[in-house]
Amino acid sequence: IGNKIGLTPALGWNSWNAWGLSVNDEKVRTAAREMSERLASHGWSYINIDDGWEAESRDADGKIVPNEKFPNMKGLTDYVHGLGLRMGIYSSPGPRTCGGYLGSYQHEDDDAITYGKWGIDYLKYDWCSYGQIAPPHPNLDEMKKPYLVMRASLDKADRDILFSYCQYGMGQVWKWGAEAGGNSWRTTGDITDTWESMSGIGFSQDKAAPYAGPGHYNDPDMLVVGKVGWGPALHNTRLTYDEQYTHISLWSLLASPLLIGCDMGHLDRFTLSLLTNDEVIAINQDALGKEARQYVKNADYQIWVKELTGGRKAIGLFNMTDKYQTITLPKTDAALKGYTKIRDAWRQQNLTAVSGKVAPHGVLLVTVSK
Ligand code: DGJ
Repeated sequence: IGNKIGLTPALGWNSWNAWGLSVNDEKVRTAAREMSERLASHGWSYINIDDGWEAESRDADGKIVPNEKFPNMKGLTDYVHGLGLRMGIYSSPGPRTCGGYLGSYQHEDDDAITYGKWGIDYLKYDWCSYGQIAPPHPNLDEMKKPYLVMRASLDKADRDILFSYCQYGMGQVWKWGAEAGGNSWRTTGDITDTWESMSGIGFSQDKAAPYAGPGHYNDPDMLVVGKVGWGPALHNTRLTYDEQYTHISLWSLLASPLLIGCDMGHLDRFTLSLLTNDEVIAINQDALGKEARQYVKNADYQIWVKELTGGRKAIGLFNMTDKYQTITLPKTDAALKGYTKIRDAWRQQNLTAVSGKVAPHGVLLVTVSK
């Protein structure tokens, strides 16, 4: 139909970081039920199935079909829609997905039309075995090609389908992802639930920031909060509470898609509180669609600033050390000129200065207005 969707970053859940290839119909239904009961009123809406849903081979007509873990994809999609949510699915431009299931290579039109018939609202398209189709060192045109092919196919489907590119940042995808028809694109390899991984990805996004805007966003990968495990071994995220505040604050400032990656059947109170703070989500969802820029970087702390609608700003002051420290953005700083109102987004209370004692690997997240 067109590509005027995804104007603010997607808010949803993706099966991969919790379930890996063991995702099934029941797990997706649980995620949908929990989202509709506990998260939807805060704006969350996508239920995205990652790798592991596809059969090993196509049906007699060449159509893509789910494997035995998904007995009725249309029925599942209807269920998700019935809860007021949207449904996402996953494929690869190669003949096989990373997990070895069927990809869309040379069946792009067919698959897009099937997705449309099922009622799919979001497609994550993961490079994987396309590496065998593309030349060994693909140039930019060769890198864009499979995404442009699927873009054209999605435009033929009788449905608006958000298109999420996953090729791990190759060829500085942030510079051309929007023009090549993507609504978002992964900027890095896979995240895992450690401070090194999360902070390494999150704090290296400044180079991509200028390219984000309404309908096209950088995607620094999914959230590693709650119970994660990539398959059978679920465990609580290894990020500390303060590192989790940093994770959600940073991804909100980065205008990243927020895709929860945990077992939704066991959302504890802390995780729920992280995901339902409306003042924090509003920073992520701001209609201007700007991504934060790195404003201060030194050995002890970083300050990132995101422009918001109405001339407001969101500012994150991040403690990069393992000791408490007071971090301040002085009133006289150029970034605060003319700004008089200061609000602590997590605590939802007014402050008199952009300053606070910040926990190890933690954050003070504020919004400022005139
Ligand atoms: C690699 C991607 O980066 C992950 O997010 C996930 O989709 C897996 N492939 C699935 O095989």
